[in-house]
Amino acid sequence: MSFLERSLARASKCERLPLGDWPTPVRKLERLGRRLGREIWIKRDDRSARPYGGNKVRKLELLLADARQRGARTLLTVGGFGSNHVVATAIYGQRWGFQTQAVVAPQPRSAAAQTNALLAASLGVELIPCQSRATAPLRLLAALRQAQRPYLIGPGGSSPLGTLGYVFAALELKEQLLNHELPEPAAVFVPLGSGGTAAGLALGLALAGLSCPVVAVRVVEQPLCNSVILEQLIWRVRRLLRHLGEQLPGRTNYTIVGDQVGPGYGAVTQQARAAATLLQETEGLTLETTYSAKAMAALTNALRHGPRSSRPVLFWHTANSWSIDRLINADASAALPLPMQSWLAQPR
Ligand SMILES: Cc1ncc(COP(=O)(O)O)c(C=O)c1O
Repeated sequence: MSFLERSLARASKCERLPLGDWPTPVRKLERLGRRLGREIWIKRDDRSARPYGGNKVRKLELLLADARQRGARTLLTVGGFGSNHVVATAIYGQRWGFQTQAVVAPQPRSAAAQTNALLAASLGVELIPCQSRATAPLRLLAALRQAQRPYLIGPGGSSPLGTLGYVFAALELKEQLLNHELPEPAAVFVPLGSGGTAAGLALGLALAGLSCPVVAVRVVEQPLCNSVILEQLIWRVRRLLRHLGEQLPGRTNYTIVGDQVGPGYGAVTQQARAAATLLQETEGLTLETTYSAKAMAALTNALRHGPRSSRPVLFWHTANSWSIDRLINADASAALPLPMQSWLAQPR
């Protein structure tokens, strides 16, 4: 049995609910590559599950299994007014019989954020608005005291257990490399929000014996996610793996790119818009401007201005790309709490 197979066998001892369609496909972005003069590949986590893909699915498979084992009834989480994480938690939570409550904070109102807010209301999420991200922890604590058999899911689902989902994702990639579905990349580009995606990938790639760095493109202000936070998370996942009987992985390899965040979380930057347009024109693929377009902007920037190389790079698409409009009720905006209704009414 190969090292990878042994790892997977041990890892599978950890309960996971079947939410996703694995492995997510990989494919070469021919036209984009030609435009940028480099071989570029994509990992389609945007199609990780139906009806809602994206990076939350891998985390939720583990978190919801844990919530069930603990006999929880309510998933209590936190995010922006238009959070992908809240929507994904509500969709897959509902499927497994959970109610979802979410403490939500204002964020810039992009098209994707607006759609998510309406979808959260349509899904019956109990939305608890707070004034800013700074006041969210206190509101969360108050909600936790009142909730019925709650299971707390922190920002972005990036607990050590949720992060393990991206350790498995890296092993999935390794399997695809062994099957010659793609060449070994020189770097893996991914957005950096709460950190679980990048931390899990970095650890998983090390576990799989792959040396390529994860390029973590920060989309939040630096105090919210940085190398100290990533290192702590990686350390806690290592501890969890040891607890599960997993062999300790080797050195992680990641870099944080901090020049794409712009004025702050959710702000639509020109570079992100241009990167989204470029991918749409060349490959017909859609990116949203809070996460995935910023990661793509960092990739295009690195290829245009970084050191010359002929080695391929991998873009890990983390944002849902299935259409969710049909899941939104006609009266969704009326179901939103008043601060969110005013936010929706603001000019963009
Ligand atoms: C679409 C998308 N991409 C990337 C991320 C960032 O992942 P992480 O929070 O694990 O750093 C998020 C987090 O909310 C997201 O919604």
